[in-house]
Amino acid sequence: MNSASIASTVSPATLDRAHCLSLDAQDPLAARRELFALPAGVIYLDGNSLGAMPRAVPGRMQKAIEQEWAVGLIRSWNDADWYPAPQRVGARISQLIGAQGHEVIVADSTSVNLFKLLVAALRLRPGRKTILGENGNFPTDAYIASGVAELSGVQHRAVSPDEVMAALNEDVAVLTLTHVNYKSGQVYDMAAITRRAHEVGALVIWDLAHTAGAMPCDLNACEADFAVGCGYKYLNGGPGAPSFAFVAQRHHDSLRQPITGWHGHAKPFAFGQSYEPAPGIDRMLVGTAPQMGLFALEAALTVFDGLDLQQLRAKSLSLTGLFIRLIDQELAGFGFGLATPREDALRGSQVSLTHEQGYAIVQALIARGVIGDFRAPDILRFGFAALYLSHADVWDAVATLKDVMQNKAWQAPEFMAKKAVT
Ligand SMILES: Cc1ncc(COP(=O)(O)O)c(C=O)c1O
Repeated sequence: MNSASIASTVSPATLDRAHCLSLDAQDPLAARRELFALPAGVIYLDGNSLGAMPRAVPGRMQKAIEQEWAVGLIRSWNDADWYPAPQRVGARISQLIGAQGHEVIVADSTSVNLFKLLVAALRLRPGRKTILGENGNFPTDAYIASGVAELSGVQHRAVSPDEVMAALNEDVAVLTLTHVNYKSGQVYDMAAITRRAHEVGALVIWDLAHTAGAMPCDLNACEADFAVGCGYKYLNGGPGAPSFAFVAQRHHDSLRQPITGWHGHAKPFAFGQSYEPAPGIDRMLVGTAPQMGLFALEAALTVFDGLDLQQLRAKSLSLTGLFIRLIDQELAGFGFGLATPREDALRGSQVSLTHEQGYAIVQALIARGVIGDFRAPDILRFGFAALYLSHADVWDAVATLKDVMQNKAWQAPEFMAKKAVT
């Protein structure tokens, strides 16, 4: 039985834990949970912020440190294949986002890759004066777009998500959007928006921070131009894991990104004095890669080996859909709102609730081992990584939330004090 059938299993009018267990019994991805080292007693609903640790990572890191670095020393750049890691890991990620292997590379952070691609996109559309973005995008996307606009003498215009299509006109050089919104979990129609942007001659940069590893997307089928995304969220690469960048093959020869470091040079080890961009995606590189982060990410990506992405999507929708139904069923009257679309096609792999005491409620949940996060002003955010969560986890998380609300546990003073990272 595949997981498409999980999502379509007829569910009883009133859901109970036994029903959740029956869904888990049919789950073709259930065994993948064993690929992760999750602490006992924790239900981890924050893989949209920092993914859980795949068991393959520590061994790989130990080898990289104790053999390749300590013994191999500088020789490992060649002997342990350190040097081609950005391309190799990029090719692995390409399989999750509908790209060709040579169109994706791992480098820098998402913010920096966005900067490089925004400047490169403006250079491909000289004379156009607008970077179009969305209100409510993740702040770094807006900050970087404003910074690039100031540097380049163009304007950064942000419109609400439902105005994006109408705002696309012949003055727009580049549109920059996040495919799955970090707060609401709402998904844009990548194909329709990219098509419309191309009709007016604009380019599009998709931020896949909340897409890659959480749900499939098909960059090339949508004729996407560029994309960026995080290695540490649903790709589980660990804190500060490097980011990935996608450049469609048709833009490879004309792409001129602004941070012209030696690793993006055609002949880095010729040590010439003038910059000549490397052919292909390699020109997105800047300086020496964060190798340890790359190795952790590479090992982490093995959890996706042999995965059917449609099964991943079906299970993710089954988990998020169940969570929404259980919130309706178990938590009516406690003041929660739903900030995420109910419609499957519009939902990524997270569910966000609103509540005026959201921060304290999330802290009380974390103290009970149910880890989500809070986004100001009032969003309780729950990410559902389908490779390591079960339907029973969803039931138990909602039962814990109900307990926190019924017992007013969130009112304890220690849950009111804001921490540095929410
Ligand atoms: C949509 C989006 N883009 C970018 C980032 C972060 O970028 P960086 O890795 O440069 O900190 C996040 C982090 O949560 C995000 O949600």
